[in-house]
Amino acid sequence: MADTVKLDSLNINKPRLAATVGFPIGRIVSVSGSQAVVVLESDEDGKATLGTPSMGSLIRIITREGVVIGIISGLSIPVPSSRADEEELKILEIEMVGEITASKDAPGARAFRRGVSVFPTLGSEVHLASSEELAIIFNSDARGMVRIGSIHQDADIPAHIVPDDLLAKHFAVVGTTGTGKSCAVSVILRGMLQEHKNAHIVVLDPHNEYAPAFQDCAEVIGPDSLQLPYWLLNFDELAEVLLGRDSGRRVEMEVLREIIPIAKQNYRAGAGETSALVRKPQANGTGNTITVDTPIPYRISDLIQMLDTMMGKLDKPESLVPYKRLKARIEAVTVDGRYGFMFGGLTVRDIMSDVIGRIFRVPVDGRPITVMDLSGVPAEILNVVVSVVCRLAFDLALWSDRQVPITIVCEEAHRYVPRDKALGFEPTKRAISKIAKEGRKYGVSLCVVSQRPAEIDPTILSQTSTVFAMRLTNQNDQEIVQAAVSDAAVSLLEFLPSMGNGEAIAIGEGVTLPMRIRFDRLPEGFAPRSSGASFSTGWREDHGSADFIDSVIERWRAARA
Ligand SMILES: Nc1ncnc2c1ncn2[C@@H]1O[C@H](COP(=O)(O)OP(=O)(O)OP(=O)(O)O)[C@@H](O)[C@H]1O
Ligand SMILES: [Mg+2]
Repeated sequence: MADTVKLDSLNINKPRLAATVGFPIGRIVSVSGSQAVVVLESDEDGKATLGTPSMGSLIRIITREGVVIGIISGLSIPVPSSRADEEELKILEIEMVGEITASKDAPGARAFRRGVSVFPTLGSEVHLASSEELAIIFNSDARGMVRIGSIHQDADIPAHIVPDDLLAKHFAVVGTTGTGKSCAVSVILRGMLQEHKNAHIVVLDPHNEYAPAFQDCAEVIGPDSLQLPYWLLNFDELAEVLLGRDSGRRVEMEVLREIIPIAKQNYRAGAGETSALVRKPQANGTGNTITVDTPIPYRISDLIQMLDTMMGKLDKPESLVPYKRLKARIEAVTVDGRYGFMFGGLTVRDIMSDVIGRIFRVPVDGRPITVMDLSGVPAEILNVVVSVVCRLAFDLALWSDRQVPITIVCEEAHRYVPRDKALGFEPTKRAISKIAKEGRKYGVSLCVVSQRPAEIDPTILSQTSTVFAMRLTNQNDQEIVQAAVSDAAVSLLEFLPSMGNGEAIAIGEGVTLPMRIRFDRLPEGFAPRSSGASFSTGWREDHGSADFIDSVIERWRAARA
């Protein structure tokens, strides 16, 4: 087959290459494990015949079984000469990553597979991979591949992801702020939706960015429409909302733990025929033990009533203090407008199936993505909301017998699962770690997005089997990504500090081969709203009217009412 090398993509002196297409660029002089060293061929003047191939380019080595594919991971001139016209030895270091062999499925066709079965011998010839070979490599895995961009080496060759391998084992998108992480996530998810109209994806969106990226495909749950009733919270989450992280609240905790199950019993007893969810286990004759964490409704008024009764029985005024404090706190949050999504509504109804169905898109109803705009959630309980959503996702997947695989996109993941053990909220960390560790078995996967990978709990990153690393300038962050990637082509990560916006090194099981890619551009109007404010635009106009500041203050007060 003809070797039609794409000249532009290979940084090679064109006229010279035209004359030497099909000729090797060098030969193997050392092989050790998956690495090999190549000495570049030189012409009669001592110049390398094919110029200098660049870092990250793919090469091929012909062996008796087929063609071994390698990535250039290092370039050097061990003994540089002081004069430009003197002969120099040019060395390429190569990481061998796979083979192109005869396809088992289609006679006569060739296919790429990872891993090398027959290693090249000393003296084997090395060529730059041709466009045709690149096409085989990047398209060879035909299992419902989804396009996300193009490869850096040749813009005509699409970069694909393998959805099942990407999602089933979690993936991470990391990069310095503004490098295009949110756009990359949007490109990946939009690509996925083309093929999978009945997906179940929840994007936890702390900056209200993602709604434009999915438009009609997404159910946007914002500050006005978010509904997460307090009775869906488990005990730790409710204690965080009501008592905060004050360790001196032991009595309040104990009292709460005692009265919540009773309030739940009360509700169940009074709910009679209306609650199908509660009735079912009884009908089966299995009984239904209600614990403090059982997700069934109860009334806040019952809690208050019980607190009053308890206080009535106490005779020492000082022992009343914790009860009074708890009661005051419950009364305060239930009237706080910012907590309306949790404590709002005059009547308590069992709306668990509505809430869960809406968040996790069951039924999908033409909108496979939920964008949870968390920008209106009070900062002090953001962690609680994330904890509840992650926990519910896991439980839904578990109790639905894996019939509803769910992907949770966790933006700013370093906030929820921080490396520093003293930071973060324990139940959120637990819920996310549980998905990271066991989600695969039940069909819940994570997309971890962060600009500070070094600040994420390393056990979470080590569970992600595919990483899209965009430009990272911080040394610690680069090292963390390098450590999390077990792939042979870690050398590609050398590019991390120098890549452009929208570019990434994609490594892991979700992509055919470690590759440097450029994400496709999102269509006009579909980019997530960038979270940064534009000073140059903002300072062009004078917002100095009284109406403007009044409207700002009105919104401000409405949120805190
Ligand atoms: N694939 C793309 N398609 C269209 N625009 C892009 C793409 N990638 C990056 N951009 C541009 O880069 C800008 C920043 O991208 P984005 O908001 O995704 O960065 P980020 O890494 O998520 O930043 P932050 O850390 O602040 O969240 C976008 O406003 C957009 O203009
Ligand atoms: Mg972003």
